[in-house]
Amino acid sequence: MQDDVGQTSQPVQAVPVIQITRHRYRAGLTPGGMARRIAQQGMNTDVSATARGKVGKDAAGDVPAADNQDFLHVGIVADDQGEPMRYQVTVQPSGRQFAAETDETLLDAALRQGLTMPYGCKDGACGACKGQVMSGSVEHGMAQPHALTDQEKTAGLALYCCARPTSDLTIECKQLRSAHDIPVKTLPARIEKLERLAPDVIEIHLRLPANEHLQFLAGQYIDILLKDGRKRSFSLANAPRDDGMLELHIRHVPGGFFTEQVFTTMKVRDIMRFNGPHGSFHLHDDSSKPVILLAGGTGFAPIKGIVEQALATDCKRPLHIYWGAKARVDLYQHELPERWAAEHTHIKYIPVLSEATAEDAWGGRCGLVHQAVVSDFPDLSGHQVYACGSPVMIGVAKQEFVNVCGLPEEEFFSDAFTFASN
Ligand SMILES: Cc1cc2nc3c(=O)[nH]c(=O)nc-3n(C[C@H](O)[C@H](O)[C@H](O)COP(=O)(O)OP(=O)(O)OC[C@H]3O[C@@H](n4cnc5c(N)ncnc54)[C@H](O)[C@@H]3O)c2cc1C
Ligand code: FES
Repeated sequence: MQDDVGQTSQPVQAVPVIQITRHRYRAGLTPGGMARRIAQQGMNTDVSATARGKVGKDAAGDVPAADNQDFLHVGIVADDQGEPMRYQVTVQPSGRQFAAETDETLLDAALRQGLTMPYGCKDGACGACKGQVMSGSVEHGMAQPHALTDQEKTAGLALYCCARPTSDLTIECKQLRSAHDIPVKTLPARIEKLERLAPDVIEIHLRLPANEHLQFLAGQYIDILLKDGRKRSFSLANAPRDDGMLELHIRHVPGGFFTEQVFTTMKVRDIMRFNGPHGSFHLHDDSSKPVILLAGGTGFAPIKGIVEQALATDCKRPLHIYWGAKARVDLYQHELPERWAAEHTHIKYIPVLSEATAEDAWGGRCGLVHQAVVSDFPDLSGHQVYACGSPVMIGVAKQEFVNVCGLPEEEFFSDAFTFASN
C-alpha cells in the first residue's frame, strides 16, 4: 500500500518561518555521533536558511514564496556519497525529538525509534496522521488529494505517513506516545472458518503455524499480502486469544480484487500471508474517561476486539457502543453487544439504522449513527471517542463531536476503512 516512490517535491514551509538551522547527518550516525565527528573534523554544518537565500518577507516569518521553498530544497536529500540525510524532528507540545532520514516517512521514523502517533492506512488516504508542520519543510510523497488538499499543504499541514523531511522540523502531535514494543511479523495463516454473517459480510478465522504467535493490541489491523504484491487491510475482530486465532469481518466490495475472491473462491484450509499488527487504534488505558465506541458496518470488528479486551482486563470504564448500519440484517452480530449490555452495567449498546424498512420491524433508533451520539451526548468534553468505519462517517463524526459537543480533538481516535491505491 505504501509506495516508496515520492512525487514531485512539494515542500511545506509552515507559519511562522523560523531561522532554520540545519544539521545534516549521514545515515547511521546519531546526532550525538555526528556532533562528535563535526567537532573532530572541524566541520561546520550549521547553515541558516537566511544565510543561503531569502526565505521569507521578514525574520518574524511569513509563508515564503514557492520559488524560495524550492530553493531551500535543492540537493538536500542525499549527502555527497548518495546516502540519505538525517534530520532532527521536534514534536510539540511534548518537545520530544527523533531523527528522520530523507528516505523514510516521519511516521516510520517515529515508530522505528519507539514513538507512536495516530495513524491508520499508512497509505495517504485516511488522514488519521495529519498534523501541522510548525517549522521546516517536507516532501508530501503519496498523500492523496482527498486526505490532504492543496489548501491544507499551503497551511502547513502534512500526512506524517507520507511526509519525508527535507530539513530539520518542528511538528505538532498531541497524541505522541511511547510505542508498545510489539514486533510486526509476516506470517502464513490457514483459514480455519469462513462464515457468512450477513449477505455481504464474511467472518474468517485464521490459524497461525503451531510455533507462531501474533502479539497485538485489540483494535489493530493486519495487511493481507496478495500474490502480486498488493495488500489489503483488515481489522482484527478479537482480543488476543490463548489459541492465537485471529478473526476478521470482511465486507464484500463488488468487483473488489480481494473481497471478490473471499466471497467466491476462498475456502477453509486455504493458506494466506499477512503482516502486522499495524495501526494506533486501541483503547488507551492511560485515561479513565468514559468511552464512546462508534462503529459503522464492519467497523464493528475492531470495536468488538476492544470490548473483549476491556472485559478480559476487568476495565470498568463506561463503554457506550453505537453501531450504525443501513438495515437490521447489517447488524450482523447484534446479539453480542446486546448480551454485553445485559451482563455489564458499565456497557451500553445503541444500534442505529439509517435505512430501516418495514421488513425490519425496527423499534430502535433511526438516522445517522454519529447524530445519535450528538443527541445523547451534547457535551463530550469529558469523554474519549473511538470511531471506526467509512472515511465519510469518521470525518463528519470528528467534526461534529469536536465543534458541536466540545470533544478535545486529541480524545478522538479513529480507523477509517479506506481502500488500497492499487
Ligand atoms: C486500516 C484499515 C482497516 C480495515 N478493516 C476492514 C475490516 O475490518 N473489514 C472490512 O470489511 N474492511 C476493512 N477495511 C477496508 C478494506 O481494506 C477494503 O474494503 C478492501 O481493501 C477492499 O479490497 P478489494 O481488493 O476487494 O477491493 P479493491 O480492488 O481494492 O477496490 C475496488 C474498488 O472498490 C471500491 N472500494 C474498495 N474498498 C472500499 C471500501 N471499503 N469502501 C468503499 N469503496 C471501496 C473502490 O472504488 C475501489 O477502487 C479496512 C481498511 C483499512 C485501511
Ligand atoms: S493518511 Fe496517514 S495513516 Fe492514513
